[in-house]
Order: sequence, then C-alpha cells, then structure tokens
Amino acid sequence: MKDLKNIARVFNDYSKIWSGREVNKALVTFFEITMNCNLRCEYCYIGQDPVAYPQGFQPKGLSIDEIKLVISKISKSSHALSLYGGEPFLRKDLLEILQFAKSLDFGSLEVVTNGTLLVKNIKSVELLDVINISYDPTRQRQYSEQMNKMLEDALWIRKKLKKSIMFFITLCEEDQFSDLTDLLNFMQNHKFCAFFQPVRTKSMIHDLKWFNEIMKSIKDEYPKIFYFNQIKNYVPLDYNRCLPQLSLSVTYEGNLVYPCQMFRTRIAGSLLESDVAELWKKGKEKYGTFPNKECENCGYLCMWDIGNNFRYPWKVNFFNY
Ligand SMILES: C[S@@+](CC[C@H](N)C(=O)[O-])C[C@H]1O[C@@H](n2cnc3c(N)ncnc32)[C@H](O)[C@@H]1O
Repeated sequence: MKDLKNIARVFNDYSKIWSGREVNKALVTFFEITMNCNLRCEYCYIGQDPVAYPQGFQPKGLSIDEIKLVISKISKSSHALSLYGGEPFLRKDLLEILQFAKSLDFGSLEVVTNGTLLVKNIKSVELLDVINISYDPTRQRQYSEQMNKMLEDALWIRKKLKKSIMFFITLCEEDQFSDLTDLLNFMQNHKFCAFFQPVRTKSMIHDLKWFNEIMKSIKDEYPKIFYFNQIKNYVPLDYNRCLPQLSLSVTYEGNLVYPCQMFRTRIAGSLLESDVAELWKKGKEKYGTFPNKECENCGYLCMWDIGNNFRYPWKVNFFNY
C-alpha cells in the first residue's frame, strides 16, 4: 500500500515536470548529519575546499532534537532521505535518528558511507532500505586492510539482511584501467551495481575526456555493473537536462542549499526555522532559476543523472539487472 502511494506520488510529480511546473517533492534529499570522518581520502573535497567547507572535518553538529526537526521538515518535501556527511555511522545517536526517520513518511531511507562501521552498527543497518558504499582505487591504496574487510562485510550484510547495496566509485585522472581490475571483478562476480563519478575540484569538472575514456573501457568489458542511472557519455554535458529540485541538499548546520550541492555556499536558509518549500522560494528569489549557464561545469553527475533520467525516461536502461 505504502509502495502504491509512493508510485502514485512520483507519477504526480512526473506530470508536473512534463507540464513545466515544479515538483511537490524531491526524489531524494541528502542530509550531512556529521562532518566528522574516520578516513581522510586524498581527493576528498571536505579537506580541500575551504570556501565550501571552511571548518573541514569536525565533530560539531546539530543536536538530536534539531536533527529530528530537520528530518521532519525534509519528510514533507522528499520521497527519500539519504544520510551522508562526513561518515554518518560516526554519530552515536544514528540508531535513534533512523528510528525517528522510519516513523515518518519516507519511501526510502538511505545512507552514503565508507562502509567501515556497518557491522558494528547492524541495528542501524537493519533500518535502511539502500546502502551506498563509497569505494575506489584511492581508498584501496590508502586503506587496503579496511577496504578488504569492508568488502567482506558488504557481502555478509547483503546475504544476511537482504539489503540493497550499491557502490559509489570516485575516479581520479591518474587511475588507470588496470588499477580497477580487482574492484571491477569483485562487482561483476558478486553482481553489485556501481555508479562512477570523476573527481571534482571546488565542485566543478573542467575536463571529462579522461573520464569518458576510462568509462568506455569499463563499459566494454564490464557492461553489467552499471547502475541504470548512469548515462553513456557525458561529453558534452547538456546542463539543461538537469532538474535540481529532484535532489535537495541540507548541510550539517541544517541549512537548505539552493539549488543543489554544486552550489553548497548558496544557502537558502535554515530548516530549523522554515520549511523546504518556503526556503526553495527564497533561494529562487536570491539566486535565480536553475539549471542555467552556471551549471556548465557541474561536477555532480549523479544528480545530473537523476534529472536527466526523469526527463528522458525512455533513454534509461532499466534492464541491466
Ligand atoms: C564525502 S563522502 C561522505 C560520505 C561517506 N563518508 C563516504 O565515504 O561515502 C561522499 C562521497 O563524496 C565523494 N567525494 C569526496 N571527495 C570528492 C571529490 N573531490 N570529487 C568527487 N567525489 C568526491 C566520496 O567518494 C563519496 O562517495
């Protein structure tokens, strides 16, 4: 019944998009519940972008009551909630946060995690619908022991709890196709899906040529591992196909970013004080309508893919897995 209700809502939003109106609800809202992290991946923007992340990795964050208030506001404006950060599993009250979110009207509860703390937090994992684990050649090189254990844990969790697990793979320009063999074999042999993204600096990508080349090699040899959202080629990136309102972003201070994570310093206002619809309106007044020319070098391909697939569903390959 809940699923039917959600499908009906998504179709309602679809009809709005097609008639040029704004959607009632985002598909997903990403909420940074902490900026603390137990890893320091070399490419990570949190440690490298003092404009967007002036405080870098740090343990300060909202209180549990503030987190609940923000999540209840998000629930009225988003089909799914995705917790990330920082490393969400570092929050000692994560179980309470998830139990609260579960009591609300979300179609899906998700997390973006480095996967190193899943087994220690199995009660929290049980409450999740989707677990997105970030894993890539940089992490394997920097943290090989932890990553090998994380892969074993992912297999165990999927088998034991029947959870949907997907991998987010961040590629750097210096990564060679040969650096990816073990990772790709693991994904293919165990039928995991993966989403690949190029490393970005200050939220932007200036050159996608190297990324498209490596993606072509992966697609030729491992066609089955792609998450259906991932399109074939990002050159040229047609920013007009994006629909930023489908994936909202909330900072660790509880601020709604307008219109999306790429512009993380553009704050529409605090969800501790207002709700999403009000802030979206304010953001639009302050920063204008998106997508626009500023989106040309968008580094957030996963978000771009969400908008693109919603607008052009007939181009999506739903039959990969
Ligand atoms: C910052 S992490 C936070 C969530 C969690 N701790 C994790 O490791 O997935 C969120 C995602 O951003 C990606 N990421 C970090 N820095 C990046 C960069 N400079 N360019 C592209 N992706 C990046 C990570 O690989 C990860 O998939």
